[in-house]
Amino acid sequence: MSNYHIKNFEEYYQVYRKSVRNPENFWEEVAEEHFVWRKKWDSVLEWDFSKPEIKWFQGAKLNITENCLDRHLPVRGDKTAILFEPNDPKEEAQHITYKQLHEKVCRFANVLKDNGIEKGDRVVIYLPMIPELAVSLLACARIGAIHSVVFAGFSSTALATRINDCKAKMVVTSDGSYRGAKTIDLKGIVDEALEKCPGVETVLVAKRTKSKITMKEGRDQWLQPLLDKAYADYTADIMDAEDPLFILYTSGSTGKPKGMMHTIGGYMVYTAYTFKNVFQYREEDVYWCTADIGWITGHSYIVYGPLANGATTVMFEGVPSYPDFGRFWDVVQKHKINQFYTAPTAIRALAKENLDFVTEYDLSCLKVLGTVGEPINEEAWHWYNDHVGEKKCPIVDTWWQTETGGILISPIPFSTPTKPTYATLPMPGIQPALMDENGKEIKGNQVDGRLCIKFPWPSIARTIWGDHQRYKDTYFSAFKGMYFTGDGALRDEVGYYRITGRVDDVIIVSGHNLGTAPIEDAINEHPAVAESAIVGFPHDVKGNALYGYVILKETGQSRDRDNLKKEINQVITEHIGPIAKLDKIQFVPGLPKTRSGKIMRRILRKIASKDTGNLGDTSTLLNPEVVDIIMRESL
Ligand code: WTA
Repeated sequence: MSNYHIKNFEEYYQVYRKSVRNPENFWEEVAEEHFVWRKKWDSVLEWDFSKPEIKWFQGAKLNITENCLDRHLPVRGDKTAILFEPNDPKEEAQHITYKQLHEKVCRFANVLKDNGIEKGDRVVIYLPMIPELAVSLLACARIGAIHSVVFAGFSSTALATRINDCKAKMVVTSDGSYRGAKTIDLKGIVDEALEKCPGVETVLVAKRTKSKITMKEGRDQWLQPLLDKAYADYTADIMDAEDPLFILYTSGSTGKPKGMMHTIGGYMVYTAYTFKNVFQYREEDVYWCTADIGWITGHSYIVYGPLANGATTVMFEGVPSYPDFGRFWDVVQKHKINQFYTAPTAIRALAKENLDFVTEYDLSCLKVLGTVGEPINEEAWHWYNDHVGEKKCPIVDTWWQTETGGILISPIPFSTPTKPTYATLPMPGIQPALMDENGKEIKGNQVDGRLCIKFPWPSIARTIWGDHQRYKDTYFSAFKGMYFTGDGALRDEVGYYRITGRVDDVIIVSGHNLGTAPIEDAINEHPAVAESAIVGFPHDVKGNALYGYVILKETGQSRDRDNLKKEINQVITEHIGPIAKLDKIQFVPGLPKTRSGKIMRRILRKIASKDTGNLGDTSTLLNPEVVDIIMRESL
C-alpha cells in the first residue's frame, strides 16, 4: 500500500524520503492504487528540462470524469458532490449528489457534441460561480474538449484576447452574474468581446439573473432547453494521460497572458493526492474553498481534487462582505464546514471589521484552515488562528502556482508543526532548491534565494499554449536543469520555507497575479499618456496595491489631473478589468532609466513604498535628476 494518507510527522518524513529517492516508484504506486485507468502506462515518467519535455504515465488511457464521478456512483451516489451556496443567503442552497452531477455532466457532454465540439477543440467558459461552471468543465473533460475558464471579472478585451489565443469555437456564459448587491451584465461583455473573435461559432447561455439580454440568431442558444432535451447518459471518451485537459491563462511579466496547458493523468493524480493530504479530508467532511473556479485554485481544489476523492465541495457564488462581513462564518456554521480554504487578502479585509461578525457564529465544526495566493502576514495569520480556528485548527499556508497545477509546499495538518508566515515543507515528490543570482544552488539552512524545483512532479504545466519557446524561456532558462518559479524564498534553521514574494515584474494584488507590462500597455493607449511605469507597494488589505508613474504628452499637460486619473483607471478597467486599477497615480516629468534605456523599477518601488533611506547608487542613471523630483512629489 502506498502512503496515500499521511497521518503524522514521522510518517511525513518517511514518505518524503521515499518519494524523492525514487519519485517514479512513488507516483506509480499512488496512481496504481487510487484511480481507475482504462489502460495502465507504458512508462511512468519521461522528462528533459532542457527541451523542456515532461510526460507522466505515457501510454495510459483514462477519463478524468470517470475518476471524479462514475466510480463514486456505487459507493456514494447519494452523497452531496457539490453544495451550492448562492449569493443571496435567502435563496436556498443546492445539494447536488454524485448521481445528479453525473447526469448533469452527461447531458452537457451531449449538448457539446450536438453543437459540433470534438476532442481537442477549445471551449472558453465565462461563467459566475454557479453549478453550471463546474458542470461545464467536467462535460468538456468527458468528451476530451479542452476547457479554458476566463474569470468572469475580466473585461471584454481580456476575454477576447484569451478566446483568440486558444482559438476557441465555443463560449459558455450566463445572462448575468450576482456579486453582492450588484448584478453584472456578463452576456453584454461576451457580445462585445465576440466582435473581435470571428472563430467563435456557438455561445451557450445559462440563465441566472433573468436580465434582459440580446441573443444573436444562429450563434447564441439558451443552455437549459438543450440540456433538458439531451440524453442523460454519455459514456466517457477514453483519453491519453498526456492529452490536454485545460488551458488556464496567467499573467506574465511581459506581453500577453500565458495559456498554461495541463494534461489529464498527472494533473489528476497530483491534485487528488495533495487534496487528500493537505486538507486531511475524510469521507463525512464538508470542504469549502472560497476561490473562484476562474483561477487555478478553483480548478484544482474546488473541482478536480475534491471530486476525485469523492468529497463534498462547496461552491460559493457570493462575496465575503454581503449581506455583511459575517457571511463566511454564517456559511461555515450553516453547512458545518470542516475544511476552509481562503486567501490572505480576504482574511485581512475581515480582520478589519468588528469581531462580532465572527464570534456570533458557531465555528466549532472547523478542523483545518488553509490560505493561498500570496504571503500571509503574521498579524493576519494570528487573527485567523485565534478567532476563526480558535487555536484548535492547524493553518495550512499552501504555496503553489497556476503553472504547478497543485500545492507544492505546505504543512500537512496534524503532522507538520506550523509556523506563522511559513509554507513549511515540500509535499512528497517535490524537490525545492534555492539558487543565487549566479545560478549556483545555495545549500544548508538559514539562507535565502530564488526558488526552483529540481525534478518534475505529475501536475507541472506541459507548455504555454501555442508558444513552447516562451515556456522554455520563462521557466527553464534562468537556472539550468531546473524549473524556476519566479518567487524568492528563505529556508529557516529547520529547513522550513517561507515565500518572500515575486522576484520578477509580476505583482500580486489581492491574490491576483498582475503583470506590469500589460497594465502599462493599457495606460499607454490613453491619448494623453506618453509613458508609464507600474510598481507595487504594501497595502494592508490587498497585500500589494499598484502605484503608477505616468509621463504625460505635451497635449495632456494642461488637462485636469483628477479627471486624467479617472480616465487612466477607466482604460485599465476596459483592457484588463477592475482588479488592475491603480491605487495611486503620480504624474512625473521622466522615469529613472539606465543608460541602456531600462526603467529602474527598484528605485520606483522604494519611492512608492516610502522606503527612500537607501535608494542605492543612482549615479549610473541616464537622468538622476528625475529621482529627486519624483521623490519630492511622491504620494
Ligand atoms: C504567490 C495561485 C506566498 C506566489 C495558487 C506564486 C504565494 C503566485 C502563496 C502564484 C503562498 C501563492 N505564500 N506566496 N502560500 N501561494 N503565492 O498562479 O508568488 O495565481 O508564484 O497561483 O502566488 O499565483 P497563481
